[in-house]
Formats: sequence, C-alpha cells, structure tokens
Amino acid sequence: MRRLVGVGVGPGDPELLTVKAVRVLREADVVLVPVMAPDEQGRAEVTVWAHVDHGRVQRVVFALNDRGGASPRREAAWNAAADTVCGAYDDGATTVAFATLGDPNVYSTFSYLAQTVRGRLPDVGVDTVPGITAMQDLAARSGTVLCEGTETLALFPLTAGIDRFREALRVFDTVVAYKGGRQLPEVLAAVEEAGRLDDAVYGAHLGLPDEDVRPAAAVTGPASYLSTLVVPARRSHRGGKL
Ligand SMILES: C[S@@+](CC[C@H](N)C(=O)[O-])C[C@H]1O[C@@H](n2cnc3c(N)ncnc32)[C@H](O)[C@@H]1O
Repeated sequence: MRRLVGVGVGPGDPELLTVKAVRVLREADVVLVPVMAPDEQGRAEVTVWAHVDHGRVQRVVFALNDRGGASPRREAAWNAAADTVCGAYDDGATTVAFATLGDPNVYSTFSYLAQTVRGRLPDVGVDTVPGITAMQDLAARSGTVLCEGTETLALFPLTAGIDRFREALRVFDTVVAYKGGRQLPEVLAAVEEAGRLDDAVYGAHLGLPDEDVRPAAAVTGPASYLSTLVVPARRSHRGGKL
C-alpha cells in the first residue's frame, strides 16, 4: 500500500527527533522537506540531513510564512508539492515521508499536503509521527513549567489577531504564542497590560546555531517568524493548582 507519512522533526535541534521519526525517515523511499524558496535552506531540511543521506532528500517549495490565507501562491505550492509526491509514486516509491518542523498535527503544512494527495489518490494511506513542538522546547530551554494541576494551556497563533490574544490572556492560565514575530512589540504590550510580562519567556530559532532564549521583558522590536513566547500561569506555592 502506498503511504504518505508526515514526520515531526522537532523545532531544529537534530537531537530532538524521536527514534521512530529517524527510522521512518531512513526507511522511506523518498524524503521531502519544505523550503521557503528554491535557494533557501529549510530548517526541517538541515535537521533531516543529520540523519538521512542528502541524496534521498528532495525539496518542495512552500509559502511557509505567507499571511494571505489560502492565497493563490499557497494553493499553487500545495498542488506542486502534491505533484512531487504523486510523481514519486509513479517512479515506484511506496513510502513518501514529509519532514515538518515540530509536530505534523500542529500548524503544519503537512495537513494541506495530505488533503491534496488524498484528493487525487484516495488509496494512499496517511500517517503521522509526532514531533516535539517549539512550545515544549522553549519550556525546557527556559526552565518553564507549562502547566500544573488544574491549569489550562492555550496555544495561540497571532495570525488569529491581537484582540483574541488579549482574550486568551484573560481566559487561560498559560498562553503560548506562535507566529507572532512580526508583531512582537504589540504582543508584549498586551502581555504587560495583563500584568503577566515578568514571568514570560521568549525563544527564537530554538535548537539552531543562532538560538536566542531570554525573558520576554528583555526583548525589543519585531522578531523572526521562528519565535515563540510562553506566558506561564501565575503560581503561588507548591501544588497550589491541584
Ligand atoms: C507553522 S508553525 C509550526 C509549528 C510546529 N509544527 C510545532 O509543532 O511547533 C510555526 C511557528 O512555530 C514556532 N516555531 C517553530 N519552530 C521554532 C523554532 N525553532 N524556534 C522558535 N519558534 C519556532 C514559531 O512560533 C513559528 O511562528
């Protein structure tokens, strides 16, 4: 049976892949990695190179940071990537793996690719291998506990808007912000307004050579797309949220 497997490769550190992810990548007939442009090195690509022969890795261009919704550019990229997957099956591949940053079921281009391929070839089986998310990596690198006891945890994409982010800060205990690099000053102002800036931590390019992890209060100006913010729950004493 032909299979398409979305493999989570973690946020960037080549040691943060599961044993299963490495095995699936090595056993696949073709390994695809998303890149933003043909001449740009992909983050998932570099991580994959640490475990798989370069020769077996094929790049597919995606509008990874496009902010225009299901834009024609994005649709064209999903279709072109699906062409590559279908072409691999035509050339005799049985298993095509698609490496994606973090987890394939958390804001990943893999969902759109899988839907497109299944639309064309309904017999293709789709699986995923979970990966460590940027949220978890930042928690570990900054020594931040994400949630305890009855605390709630929200993963918030800033593309959903700053007003909903303010609401999340009111409603949830721990709030993690993704995709907010460009609007970081506005995001941090909202965190400060909520009186929650002191414990917040920021991490950019986690696991990559230019990694930057620091208290959010020490960050100024806009940041890269590959940045994450954790606003932890307020805690007073051990076990207080049980
Ligand atoms: C499209 S989402 C991908 C999420 C990913 N699938 C996951 O499970 O973490 C992209 C967002 O993830 C976060 N992110 C992914 N990799 C990161 C890294 N190495 N350092 C910091 N943030 C990262 C950033 O907030 C970025 O805007």
